Order: sequence, then structure tokens, then C-alpha cells
Amino acid sequence: MVHFAARLKPHTLVRMMFEKLKVLEETFNCALRDGDSEAELANIKAQFLGRKGKLAAILKALGQMPMEERRELGRAANDLKNRLLRKWVDARADIEKISIDKKLKENWIDISLRERDRAGRVWEAGLHPVTIVQRELEDIFLSMGFDILDGPHIEDDFHNFTALNIPESHPARDMQDTFWFKDLKHLLRTHTSTIQIRGMKQKIKPPFRFVGPGKVFRCEAIDASHEAVFHQMEGMLIGRSITVANLIYFEKVLLNEIFGKEVEIRLRPGFFPFVEPGFELDIACLICHGSGCRVCKGSGWVELLPCGMTHPNVLKHGGIDPDEYNGFAFGLGLDRLVMMRYGIDDVRLIHSGNIDFSKQFAV
Ligand code: PHE
Repeated sequence: MVHFAARLKPHTLVRMMFEKLKVLEETFNCALRDGDSEAELANIKAQFLGRKGKLAAILKALGQMPMEERRELGRAANDLKNRLLRKWVDARADIEKISIDKKLKENWIDISLRERDRAGRVWEAGLHPVTIVQRELEDIFLSMGFDILDGPHIEDDFHNFTALNIPESHPARDMQDTFWFKDLKHLLRTHTSTIQIRGMKQKIKPPFRFVGPGKVFRCEAIDASHEAVFHQMEGMLIGRSITVANLIYFEKVLLNEIFGKEVEIRLRPGFFPFVEPGFELDIACLICHGSGCRVCKGSGWVELLPCGMTHPNVLKHGGIDPDEYNGFAFGLGLDRLVMMRYGIDDVRLIHSGNIDFSKQFAV
């Protein structure tokens, strides 16, 4: 508290007060110069600028001054307060910067440092062939005006089956042996078609087109062309008056784009409850060029692109009026595509974790 002797003349009082403000500023500056931690700074703030601090005490004492002097001193005290506050903020920023710099220095990692194996060979990092192909496809789809969506690996019954027109009693639920969770309500998604439902709900109003790449899981008997975990890229295009001709044309353009050359295709009827009509689109095997190998199971053709016109029930589950809109969907098998592209004749190699295998594709 600052007390004034009643007998002092007003102008002497004013001079004293100005003196106090000056001293306050000097001691504040000294304290700030010495304060080198956030805790000390917080202390300084409380001590000088806090509710019970030095400046508050002076301002309180101002109340006892005559009106005229009070105004002049009040303005000076306020200016001082702003000045101190600015300096304090700057000092705190400096301290923060120092502490960040210190942390950065302590946690410094040389990301360019090359890892070596036991034989002293440098380990090269690179993208996995599935990632390479997925990214290339994403570029192609983006250039065709598609959005890229995502969906969870752990799905519920509704998104994986019911909404895709696969009701509880439907034999299609047995077609794909599924990894169910104990609650029998959740599962590891068996296909990326779940993203159709999530995409429709997200987009709300057609027209729209999107793809959804990702891992899928099936309890398969594993052989050269089947794995329990593999990759698909789901595609969906919804608008008005879309036809099968649009679908076929689109798929041809897409495959030519993917392989960088005209590939031979054939279309067969295929059954998927969420499309009607549904097709299997095969390409002539690029491994054996039609003569038959273990990838195409000797047939010369590889199933690559199941597709079809979206079933009205699926549109309804996605909140879209099937009387107004229609469209098509397709599911690209990414691992198969990788095999065709690079001439790999066993899908098990792709996720073998064998670095010698994977690094051949590194870019
Ligand atoms: N979901 C189907 C599968 O996993 C593929 C598919 C997608 C078929 C879209 C038609 C349309 O086999």
C-alpha cells in the first residue's frame, strides 16, 4: 500500500507519484532481464501487474488524489501498464522460443541417416508396390473427377451386408467367409463396398463419383491368387440416366489408362446382390498372355473388375431416391492389378514382408 501524508502539497504528491511509476518501470525491467523461466515470468507478472501487485497499489492510491492530478497520473499509469505488458509478452515469447530450440536440439534426429543391415549394406526405403499402384490409380481417378473416400476396417453388419442388399438370411453371407467379432455384430470388412454406403450418406445429393481404396479381410483358403488380407478399390458413380454402355466405356478407358495400352477385356454376368445387372470384367492374363498359368488358373483370363448397375435397394439405404437417380459401382482388385502390372505370379509374395522382394519396385 502507498500512503500519502496529508500535509504534502498536491504538486509534491504528483511528483512523488511520477517518481514511483518510474522506479516501478526500472525495477520491472531489471526483474524481466533476470527472469529466465516461465515460472519466474509468471511471478513477475503477478508481482507487478497482478491484482495485488505494485501497479495496482499505485492506482489505488490515485483514488486519494484531487481530480485534476488523478487524470494526468491515471493516463501515465495506464500507459505504463500497457508498456510493461508488451515487454512481458515479448519476454515470454523469447523464453518459449529458447525452450523450443532447446527441445529441438535435444530431440534431434538425423532423418537422412541410412540404416544398415548386419552385413553393412545400406537399407533403401521405398514404397510398397500396392501403395505405388494405389497412388497411381488415385491420380487417374482424380483426373476423372472422382473424390477419394475412406472407411473403417472394422465394420458393422449393416454397412457390410444389410445396406448392400445382403439380408440376414441371404446365402451371399456365406459366399465370403467372414472374420466376425465375438459380438457377432462387428466384423473385418469383407469388401470395400461398405464405402458405397458411407459415401452415399456423406454426399447426400447426386450426381457424384468417388473411389474408396483399402484393405479387406476374408477367411480364405490361401493359394497363389488368394490371400486373407488384400486390397480393393471401390468405385461408385451416381447420376441420372446412367447406362450399362456408360459403365463399359468407362471401364475400358480406365483399364487402358492403368496399363498404358489397350488391354483385351471380356464381360460375363456376375452375381453381386448390390448390383443389377452385375458383371465380372476379366482381362486377358498379362502374365502368360493367354496360354494359361497359375494366376489365371490356366484359363488365360483374370477376374479384375467386378461391377454392375447399383441396385435400387442400395440407393435407398444410402438415402437416394432410385426413381430419380441411378448409377454403377465397381471393385478393383488392387493386388491382382499389382501382379498383372509387375508380372508377379504369387499373391503371397506381396505381403510376405520380404524386403528383397518389395525393394525391386521401390521408386
Ligand atoms: N464387393 C465385391 C467383391 O468384393 C466387388 C464388387 C464391387 C462387385 C462393386 C460389384 C460392384 O467381390
